[in-house]
Amino acid sequence: TDESRADGALSGASVIVSAGGTREPLDPVRFLGNRSSGKQGAALAAAAATAGARVTLIAANVDSDVLASLPAGVDIEHVSTTAELEAACTAHASSADVIVMAAAVSDYRPAAAAQHKMKKTGDDLTIALVENPDILRGLVELRDAGRTRTGQLLVGFAAETGSHDTSAESLAQAKLLRKGCDLLVFNDVSGDRAFGHDDNAVVVYRAGADGAEEVARSEGSKAHVSNDVIAAVAAERSR
Ligand code: CTP
Ligand code: CA
Repeated sequence: TDESRADGALSGASVIVSAGGTREPLDPVRFLGNRSSGKQGAALAAAAATAGARVTLIAANVDSDVLASLPAGVDIEHVSTTAELEAACTAHASSADVIVMAAAVSDYRPAAAAQHKMKKTGDDLTIALVENPDILRGLVELRDAGRTRTGQLLVGFAAETGSHDTSAESLAQAKLLRKGCDLLVFNDVSGDRAFGHDDNAVVVYRAGADGAEEVARSEGSKAHVSNDVIAAVAAERSR
């Protein structure tokens, strides 16, 4: 079965998985967010635990029913904003063997959050946004500076649609090389796949000497896909 395939493959490893989507406050009751359910991240955490890893899920606004589906023994840390997610990831960077960035991170946040609930004015409203830090990029920099656990594996995710002149696959391959992570899990969201659904289709690329190399391809339930991704992580660790 899928479960037995990955069984023991990450025995004793410390694995951090970020899941869900960050929210950036506009005022005390409103936020800028995204539709990530956290299901894929939770399924990855479960697969890593089944493979024998010690797992911490850093949950950014993940529904409680999704969290309730996690196996006992997976630690959960709750965060909401990108700044909180970054602080949690960085805190684990020195001791993690694997960090999987499955969370959908808001690229921007409001330049300032209002102290009090914003009132309508009868006019159009323009909100200034500032760019958020790139958490995965920061983790790559910490590792390259020798400030993380030796042999640490960094795994990124990319949901791409492609455009008229560029395929989704080639965007994902370019992103792997630009980010500097070891593996990239590419999720084709051209149709209406992925967000909030139970099925998924991914391609896993590794950063090889000659660029992005495909190492796995998986389609099916998020649990099935997660087992295949964790198997690819284990294979990369033993290269
Ligand atoms: N990511 C991150 N910090 C950010 C944005 C993204 O750590 N501020 C991580 C995501 O968790 C994911 C990977 O980077 O693992 C790729 O995210 P994606 O949004 O696809 O890439 P970006 O670099 O933000 O590029 P763009 O959105 O412009 O395609
Ligand atoms: Ca982004």
